Amino acid sequence: YRHFMEKEIHDQPGACQHTLSAYLDPVTGRARAPGGLDFSLVDRIQIVACGTAHYAGLISRYLFESLARIPVDIDVASEFRYRAPPVRKGTLCIAISQSGETADTLAALRWCRDQGLGTAAVVNVHTSTMAREADILLPTHAGPEIGVASTKAFTSQVAALTALAVAAAAARGRIDAAEEARLTRLLLEAPRLISGALALEDQIRALAPELAKARDVLYFGRGVMSALALEGALKLKEISYIHAEGYPAGELKHGPIALIDEATPVIVLAPSDALFEKTVSNTAEVMARGGPVIFITDEEGARRAPAGVRLIVTPGCDDIVAPLVYAVPIQMLAYYVAVQKGADVDQPRNLAKSVTVE
Ligand code: M6R
Repeated sequence: YRHFMEKEIHDQPGACQHTLSAYLDPVTGRARAPGGLDFSLVDRIQIVACGTAHYAGLISRYLFESLARIPVDIDVASEFRYRAPPVRKGTLCIAISQSGETADTLAALRWCRDQGLGTAAVVNVHTSTMAREADILLPTHAGPEIGVASTKAFTSQVAALTALAVAAAAARGRIDAAEEARLTRLLLEAPRLISGALALEDQIRALAPELAKARDVLYFGRGVMSALALEGALKLKEISYIHAEGYPAGELKHGPIALIDEATPVIVLAPSDALFEKTVSNTAEVMARGGPVIFITDEEGARRAPAGVRLIVTPGCDDIVAPLVYAVPIQMLAYYVAVQKGADVDQPRNLAKSVTVE
């Protein structure tokens, strides 16, 4: 591999598999929460994290709320303490961090602990301060991540949190054993599906020269894909220095659509899920204003996609694994655009792997 980031993108099937095996039992079909975490005692979840880890948290909010029916608050860690939220007993604080050393996330975790809340940390470095200080360690097993742009740590966080949402749903009696086993089986297919998405590499590399000329790029999607749109935009900004924004598709009309012209590529994340038609109609609005569209979907979505878009067709998958599968093309897109621009992919300017000061 030319760069650590490229290697780490390709490490993801293994990283997800190792992570999922800490949470899912393929024999019994059960999902388990490590460290004696009992979700039947959790009334509410407060997630704190920064950057990409925050976006993994945003994705998990959809799952904790829809599957397990646990209300979730999520804050960027650097803002959380200063808004001094009222604390409710029964709230579990979940900090998410690759390094386990990010100053703001650590401070938010400590703040929750000092308010008497239970704490858990989804952490990749198991010897880190957060891993030591949280009541419960929820490990990811991505292995060392060297590239400043987080890739396999992100998908491992999403994998762990998704498995935890299934465990929480089962513990709270929201799903029966058969449904738990079905979701477990679907999640365990993630590594194979991620490998399938990696096979899109040549197609994505071919898009890079055009995209590298852009000054601004917009990403949008609905539901969990709106959170992934934020991650796609962050990935592109940090390594290629192209200005990018992620938006929930429904927000376009409330402002960002004014930015669209022939020179502003739009990346649409559009699995053929319940919200697909709405995403298609937002895409049509973009196209009517001349915006070139890269439409990332599955085979079913490709059949129903608006005419004139550039299609990237990912392996078809269940909604529960879609964020893991769609993460791969957006990472590769950012990577190849940065390579095209001759940027220092693993050490982007002004950024550090771990931000240990406030
Ligand atoms: O180590 P952490 O997960 O706590 O780091 C949080 C962010 O600094 C990190 O995700 C950052 O946004 C990455 N460079 C994104 O690729």
